[in-house]
Amino acid sequence: MYSIRNITDDVVYVGVEDRRLHLFENIFPLDRGVTYNAYVIRDEKTALLDTADATVSRQFFENVAAALDGRALDYLIVNHMEPDHCALIAEALEKYPQATVVGNAKTFQMITQFFALTIPEERKLVVKEGDTLSLGKHQLSFVMAPMVHWPEVMFSYDATEGILFSADAFGVFGTNNGNIFADELDYKAQDFVEDARRYYTNIVGKYGMQVQNVLKKAAGIDIRMLCPLHGPIWREDLSFILKLYDQWSRYEAEEKAVAVFYNSIYGNTESVINAFTMKLAARGVKNIKAYDVSKTDVSVMIAECFRVTNLVFGATTYNNGLFPKMENLVADMKALSVQNKKISIIENGSWAPTAGKLLKAEFDTLKNCAYIGDTLTIKSASFSAEALDALADAVAASLQ
Ligand code: FEO
Repeated sequence: MYSIRNITDDVVYVGVEDRRLHLFENIFPLDRGVTYNAYVIRDEKTALLDTADATVSRQFFENVAAALDGRALDYLIVNHMEPDHCALIAEALEKYPQATVVGNAKTFQMITQFFALTIPEERKLVVKEGDTLSLGKHQLSFVMAPMVHWPEVMFSYDATEGILFSADAFGVFGTNNGNIFADELDYKAQDFVEDARRYYTNIVGKYGMQVQNVLKKAAGIDIRMLCPLHGPIWREDLSFILKLYDQWSRYEAEEKAVAVFYNSIYGNTESVINAFTMKLAARGVKNIKAYDVSKTDVSVMIAECFRVTNLVFGATTYNNGLFPKMENLVADMKALSVQNKKISIIENGSWAPTAGKLLKAEFDTLKNCAYIGDTLTIKSASFSAEALDALADAVAASLQ
């Protein structure tokens, strides 16, 4: 059975909800599922904007057929070539043999990489920045968005209705459950914003400068509706998601707050972290978040790294190096360009504590980070209570 909704008189949502997938990109846990959004425009000519993941093929093609309602497909517009959106291109071209494929030069290069598919020249429309395509009433133009977050990414702008089809940009984890518009959801709720932040920071976080570039382009366009490839469509309060994207892509924290990431093998480091968070709270610090790296998915911690100003690490020395889960977090912070942070370190080591030095060697490579307080060293379960107080004083003062 098809499941489609008109988003305007001529534009139909044909995306699919996926509640089965456990790991997005086979790495990011999905607590609330994910959507693969796609859109059909019905005008004198018809256009399908993007396809979907291979796993939802049946539902997707039922939706497209229902939206086309017996009409042929004239254009398949490919805004993004990652397989959660492009996997069904070959099947779409089999089903709709007269469709012309619209993409930029890199799009077509990737199509040949992914598919044993030769598209005849007369069925290719290669576009570049600013090129336009008339569907009749609907005038589309194309905005290149390289490295948001793949090189071939482009946005399609429908000037007639003020709709920006924005590829992965402004995407969110989670299904919509029929409520395909953000204004039909509680988009200011904590779980929604957490899913938006975790999606952005882990998928696109590395490419802040490129996101800033497209936000500048978007500022010059009359956008009345944002149609991303994941999550809900924005037709009201667009500034809510635009502001978050602007903040995240400038690597500006949302909150003066502390997130603590620790590993603890026998509980001694954890015990000091618990004492430390109590001391922070006694100094007036609110909304402290502490995460055991052994139990928390790294994507959650990356999102927290973007959200707050202050990061505190509690790290044991392990095989003369860092604990593997801690090492993984730090590697991901570097990969995703975490920057502009105030960092404090508590290390543990029973005979040769080196975790603090190793962490600093990694954090020294991050942009615009400063250390708050001196590294506190725990030897097994022994440490200086005065030094812990001094570190709590320094962190609390840095939040003022
Ligand atoms: Fe949703 Fe970059 O794919």
